Amino acid sequence: MKILSITVLLTPPEGASTALASAFELSSFSYFQRGSVQEFMTFFTKTVAERINPGQRQSIQEREYTFHVYNKGGPENLTAVLICDQEYPVRPAYSLISKALDEFTSKVPQSSYSNPAAISFPELATYLQKYQDPRQADTIMRVQQELDETKIVLHKTIESVLQRGEKLDNLVDRSNALSAQSKMFYKTAKKQNSCCTIM
Ligand SMILES: *[C@@H]1O[C@H](CO)[C@@H](O)[C@H](O)[C@H]1NC(C)=O
Repeated sequence: MKILSITVLLTPPEGASTALASAFELSSFSYFQRGSVQEFMTFFTKTVAERINPGQRQSIQEREYTFHVYNKGGPENLTAVLICDQEYPVRPAYSLISKALDEFTSKVPQSSYSNPAAISFPELATYLQKYQDPRQADTIMRVQQELDETKIVLHKTIESVLQRGEKLDNLVDRSNALSAQSKMFYKTAKKQNSCCTIM
């Protein structure tokens, strides 16, 4: 049971998203894979974040991983995406997402959203570690009463979140954020249908 990453993104209603802060826990991957794994997690995080409307919570299963996404909307246009394995329970995942978004909003001024490199939000890495044990999450934060799990939309693949006509393979091919090496990893893993090399 583990959380692999959490990212806070600026998601304006129109146009591309920008990652403002992120934290990763990739010690379960080999040293040589970590760079590509992180690139892919960032790429998939942005891909799903741009396709969730303000006010929505959606959970997306992709192979052995689950992406939990909450677009908080409001004047800040912030979304958080958490990637965990499928054993990690839903409620602590959304608790962490809400906490991350609330703290980010209160600690990071909106004027710095345009310069993500200058944003410092070390709390994210701290929470990522603490919440690895979901029971710990309950002691850090009262379980949110307002979270209605029945309202969370559940998708079985990332492909099903894409707009009609979009194909994940094409998005991967066209991405400038992925290195040639990472794209090669993706193709090889796909051909071998090996879930565990990379996402
Ligand atoms: C949020 O999006 C609206 C509409 O595009 C925009 O006017 C506003 O400036 C955005 N807010 C931030 C903090 O980027």
